Order: sequence, then structure tokens, then C-alpha cells
Amino acid sequence: MFEAHHHARMLADATRLTAFHDAMAEVIADGDRVLDAGTGTGILAAMASQLTAGTVVAVEYLEDTASFAEQALRASDLDRVEVVQGNAVQVDIGTPPDVVVSETIGSLGPEENIVGLTHALRQRYPGIRAFIPSRLRVLAEPVVSPEADALRASVMGAFTREQPGGMSFASVLPQAEHALGSQIITAKLTGATSAGPARPLVEYDLGATSEADFSRTLSFGDSPANAVHLYFEAPLSAAVTLSSHRTAAFTHWGHSYIVRPPHASTVTIGYRSADRRFTCRWERTAESDQPPTGRHGLDREV
Ligand SMILES: C[S@@+](CC[C@H](N)C(=O)[O-])C[C@H]1O[C@@H](n2cnc3c(N)ncnc32)[C@H](O)[C@@H]1O
Repeated sequence: MFEAHHHARMLADATRLTAFHDAMAEVIADGDRVLDAGTGTGILAAMASQLTAGTVVAVEYLEDTASFAEQALRASDLDRVEVVQGNAVQVDIGTPPDVVVSETIGSLGPEENIVGLTHALRQRYPGIRAFIPSRLRVLAEPVVSPEADALRASVMGAFTREQPGGMSFASVLPQAEHALGSQIITAKLTGATSAGPARPLVEYDLGATSEADFSRTLSFGDSPANAVHLYFEAPLSAAVTLSSHRTAAFTHWGHSYIVRPPHASTVTIGYRSADRRFTCRWERTAESDQPPTGRHGLDREV
């Protein structure tokens, strides 16, 4: 099934499309053969075809989506774009490409397998001159966020409230806090302020990096942070970097964050490509192993 709603959101994301357009204009030379790996509606392939007299190969593995792109490109008279249905890693595209553009960037970066995809393409076509994006970093910034406080108040309020039927969650409130802290929330962080420098979690050199998995433990000690903003930076070219940081132009990727439980001072953030998921696990240290009170405590009025 062609996911019209999903693709419409991406087409409405002018920040994303302008960034890719400007980067392609910088990187693609006239005559280049371009591979758009994961073409979706074909929008990036269409843009690329305006920048080169060479062929643009638009590869999409979903049958209905490839067919949608094919029809749209033909109706737009973009005949130098060749749509190929199949997995960009394996499908035969004839002559090797000079430039690969791939917008297979997940909510936090690697979840759509951009690392494995670009690495496999580099192995198959060693002569590729450039990948757009060329790198992908995931970072974590401690923040003080009213959005995180409001979310926590509403979630913990639900578990604290007296329930019809007499069931009480009082004994499992710490578990609820911990579970909330392990979930990645996507929203708009308009009111957040920085509570310390951003820390890099991982950086991929696309095409060269073979392994997307990582695990990193961050310590927050007595930081006032009530949340950690997780975001990516993707340099698309020398001049253009796409970012999902809360202060960058807003994109359809939104702003991701995790809520810090009141007693927690370290968090381990990891990514596993086998299940294409991030995991976040908060822990308390001996010094912070006290009843939750004060600024982030359960007794706090929000
Ligand atoms: C995030 S969408 C982006 C679509 C389009 N490039 C754009 O920028 O609007 C990624 C697309 O890549 C396709 N895709 C992901 N991995 C692929 C692969 N290995 N081979 C072919 N298509 C792939 C998905 O089905 C999806 O349509």
C-alpha cells in the first residue's frame, strides 16, 4: 500500500526538501549518474534530474510506492529518471552511480537502515564519489523542559489518581516513572532550555561505517535537567547540514526527548539494528539513591 499520509508529511517538509535540493546542487556535477536509494514519491530523483544530463535511477522497494513514483515522474515529463522497483542494496541498476542520495533517515537517524544501505552500496560500487548525506550523528542534550514536566505530571497523575473499582497503582509508581523514562517521546520542545553541552552518542561515516549498533552511558550527576533531547545532525554537503535539534528549523521528524526520572543520574542509550530500535535505561547512583523529592520528585506540584 502506498502510504499517502506519510509521504504527504515528507513532501510538506520544506526545510527537508530545501536542504536536499541545495546539497544536491552543490554536490552533483552535470553528467553525473545519480542513484536515489529509497525514492518514495520520486521527489529527490526529480530534483536531481534538473541538475545533471546523466540518468537518475530511482530505486524503491515497495511495489505500490514505486508505481506511484513512476506515474508521477512520467506525467511530469521527467524521462531521464528511471524507476526501478527493488531493494537498493541488491537490485541491478546497470552502470554504477557517481552520486548516491538517500533520505532513509529515521526519527533519530539510523532506524531506516541508512548505515547498512550506504555501506552495502559502497561495497558494491567502490567508485561512488559522494553520498548525500555524507555523515550522520546522534546527540543527546540535557535540557530543562516544561513539556517534559507537563508530560510527566499527566502520566504520573493518571497512575496516582484513585481508580474506579478500587485498583491502586501506588505501589508501582517507581516502575511507571522508570517506564516513562525509557520511552522516546516526539513532540515540539519550544520551551526547553539547555542544561549542559550536547554529548555525541554516535557518528556514522556513511558508506564507510558498517555497524550502526552502539550503546553509550551518560551521567548527569546533579544537573538540573529534567529531560534529554535526542537529535540527529546529517551533513548533506559541505554547506548544508540537516538537524532535528530543537533550535533548528522544525521538520517532520519533530523533537525527540526522554524524561528523566526523579532519582536517576545516569542513562544508557543504545541502538540495535536487528530490531531497528533505540533503548534507554535510566539508573540511580549511590549518591542519588534517595526518596524522590523536590524539583523532579513525585510530590512536586506542576
Ligand atoms: C523516508 S522515505 C523518503 C522518500 C523520498 N526519498 C523522499 O525524500 O521523500 C524512504 C523511502 O525509501 C524506501 N526504502 C527504504 N529502504 C530501501 C531500500 N533498501 N531499497 C529501496 N527502497 C527503500 C521506503 O520504502 C520509503 O519509500
